[in-house]
Amino acid sequence: MTSPLTPTELQEILGFTTDLARKAGALILEGSHAIQRASGPGSVGEKKNAVDLVTEYDVKVEELVRNDIARAYPRFHFVGEESYSSGTRPPLTDSPTFFVDPIDGTTNFVHGHPYACISIGLVDQRIPVLGVIYNPFLEQLYRGVRGAGSFLHTHTPVLVTGTDTELGAPQRLPLAPASARPLPSLAGTLIAVEWGSDRTQEAIRRKADSFSRLAAAPPNGVMAHSLRSVGSAALNIALVAQGALDMYWEIGCWPWDVCAGIVIAQEAGGFVTGSKDTPHDGVVTESILTGRRYLIIRGVAGISGESSLDAQRRIAREFYDTVEDIPLDE
Ligand code: IPD
Repeated sequence: MTSPLTPTELQEILGFTTDLARKAGALILEGSHAIQRASGPGSVGEKKNAVDLVTEYDVKVEELVRNDIARAYPRFHFVGEESYSSGTRPPLTDSPTFFVDPIDGTTNFVHGHPYACISIGLVDQRIPVLGVIYNPFLEQLYRGVRGAGSFLHTHTPVLVTGTDTELGAPQRLPLAPASARPLPSLAGTLIAVEWGSDRTQEAIRRKADSFSRLAAAPPNGVMAHSLRSVGSAALNIALVAQGALDMYWEIGCWPWDVCAGIVIAQEAGGFVTGSKDTPHDGVVTESILTGRRYLIIRGVAGISGESSLDAQRRIAREFYDTVEDIPLDE
């Protein structure tokens, strides 16, 4: 049995993780310049299929992060996307464990599309407790600690609260108060979805049918305002935390894609659940974290006496009545 990390320890780890994300961000930018200047596919490789990409920079960034963490926190465990893919698969324990995606949005990274980030999450006692997501292309850094709120730091003006915020100063999430933003139904929502890397005919049919029901007019659909695919699970979740997306749904991504975002979203009043059959109580258990089915809904104002949690559960039910489940590919 290890004792839980204290709030003071978490704040110290947050400082370390933020510096590490910035350092990794510089390497991501260097990699992007190198890849965009290269004439052929060069260092871009494939994992399980031709759309599941990895570059030498995914591996380099993961090495940098893993080595720095090992020096600073030698007793913490580490799960990284690239080392996991190449066979290192430690079981989750009560000990503090970092979940790291060195470059989330690798496809964007390869194409020079500026939605890619490093995502560093920390789980303690099997619960996500800290998250840092940094997009070096847009200089947007999201961070959160369980019980201490979540924040966006950026030099790019993003919104919009009616008050002046100094550029680069932390802005508390969500940027607009959830209390002003009810969700009467899925109609009128902005929903993030992803095509993912499972391109079997059955998976794509189920996704496409689900997307179609979300977009279509009644009686065949719920007529959401629109669907978005940012191309990075972590940034989708960060945008839900920010309040720029109403929700994000994906089946098939992994704990390192979502761990940091879960903390940031929850601290912004967001709701996280797993598959349709998961109890929708907003508690992120180990089976939700590792279950590879995720639905995240922003902070929502209740309607006529409804609590915020009940409003989010209502939207989750409506959502799962609209979309199809998709079998996992591994
Ligand atoms: C992927 C991205 C993508 C999501 C995939 C993830 P990667 O991560 O987050 O948006 O659809 O499920 O695997 O491969 O870019 O690190």
